[in-house]
Amino acid sequence: MKTEVVRVSTGNVAELLQAPASALRRGEIVAFPTETVYGLGANALIEAAVQQIFLLKGRPQDNPLIVHLADKTKIEQLAKNIPQEFYQLYEAFCPGPLTFILEKTDLLPEIVSAGLSTVAIRFPDQRVSQELLRLADVPVVAPSANISGRPSATRASHVLDDFEDKIPFIVDDGATELGVESTVLDLCSQVPRILRPGVITADDIRVRTGIEVLPFSEGLNETDLRRPASPGLKYRHYSPEAKVIQVCGDHEKSLETVVLSVLKQHSNQKLGLFINEESWNKLRLEADIGEREVVEYLFSAENPHGSAAHELYAALRALDAAGVDVILAEAVPGAEAYMNRLDRACASESPPVQEQVKKILFVCTGNTCRSPMAAALFNAYAEEKQQASPIRWRVLSAGLHTMDGLAASDHAVSVLREIGIDISRHKSAQLTEEMLAEADIIATMTRSQRDLLQAFLPEQENKIKTLSEWALEQEADFARDVSDPFAQSEAVYRETRNQLQALIESLWQQINLLHAE
Ligand code: TXA
Ligand code: MG
Repeated sequence: MKTEVVRVSTGNVAELLQAPASALRRGEIVAFPTETVYGLGANALIEAAVQQIFLLKGRPQDNPLIVHLADKTKIEQLAKNIPQEFYQLYEAFCPGPLTFILEKTDLLPEIVSAGLSTVAIRFPDQRVSQELLRLADVPVVAPSANISGRPSATRASHVLDDFEDKIPFIVDDGATELGVESTVLDLCSQVPRILRPGVITADDIRVRTGIEVLPFSEGLNETDLRRPASPGLKYRHYSPEAKVIQVCGDHEKSLETVVLSVLKQHSNQKLGLFINEESWNKLRLEADIGEREVVEYLFSAENPHGSAAHELYAALRALDAAGVDVILAEAVPGAEAYMNRLDRACASESPPVQEQVKKILFVCTGNTCRSPMAAALFNAYAEEKQQASPIRWRVLSAGLHTMDGLAASDHAVSVLREIGIDISRHKSAQLTEEMLAEADIIATMTRSQRDLLQAFLPEQENKIKTLSEWALEQEADFARDVSDPFAQSEAVYRETRNQLQALIESLWQQINLLHAE
């Protein structure tokens, strides 16, 4: 798919947004700017569209999405028992960078809220988001438009970096105004509390409305076990490839001194700097800087709070693209949202994820050609990608009608050997009830094999699909069945291998998302 970039800097915005708005309404994915960051939008009422967002981002299924509306006209359809505070806060801050957690109705598919009884709603204050939401006239889920874990997108080019030709539309309205995501405010807890800091702070809320809310506190997720706070808080976020180190001057040492000493500690590495202009102007004159390979990305010294937040994600992405090993980023004390994102970009490890072991079972007829090839290809792929997945896969293959102990067919062995995979020691296995019961995922080669197994295990039919269905290629008719190359030429085996390889690759993406907990 070719991504169409709709630039709205010139021309009639409403006219330009017609096509993206109808696409959004139909269930297609449209990336668009808000005042905070770019969002990856989908019609919240269409489950398949929302599912697509999770898949595209590689987002864990338990991390709910924010529903975007132009205004509060239809809020009662989406939320119930709405407290009075909501209306007061709405008057004071909306449209604007404030997300409300409210009790949800049953209108939205479960997947939007990841099974929680609450829903997050916000009213973005940006001409494109406003117009798009009005034209589409449906609630729109829009997580930040970045691959999960990466820095959020504050320019259309960032969205292209992550999703080019994977989504039909990106609306480009230049750099976003604020640069950090909205404040998430929980209105379902005893006392309203901030779950994610943003530009609007607890102080702002008290001053403008008199409403007391608990400010954001880091330990929230660990200490409050009564109900899940913001599930998004527990995941690795905003992380560039490079290691990020915070640097900060104080009355004893200037920022420049600190930078120079950290620079010395990383003598063999290519450094990126994200600091204010004024400090850079002093630093660049230092001999130590002149001799080193340093890439700088600067923010304004006059308005460090706003400017650092505005540029943070762009800086992390640009410095990554410049190939630096380490990024020294200036801490701006008091800039709550910026510091929260920077802290998280610095966190070297994601919180320990419990390792899960799951079983995948490939089934064909004789377990001498297709299923052993599929299993071996999966293993090879898993070995390469394992690091990125919280799941350890155990891989098995079996045949519906076979005997134990047959070798893989010669051509299967030879076409896999061509790509460095050895299945010469494979021994066929007859499918057993036990194997079926123990597998978490069963992938058959054909639809008739799938039907047979589903009839056998009706109560677990969800875990049985054809390989193409797992790989989500069921629309492409030709891809549905992997046909049996048995007794045919080596060339046919090679084609089967290529087909399996492509399917395994998408299967890997899909199941690691679905099974990540
Ligand atoms: O500024 C923003 O809010 C941007 C723009 C595009 O609108 N969107 C955004 O979405 O940041 P996302 O998906 O990247 O972050 C949503 C955050 C996550 O931390 C998620 O866990 C939390 O909101 N969240 C969503 N629904 C929730 C709920 N029902 N209860 C608690 N937290 C929720
Ligand atoms: Mg995000």
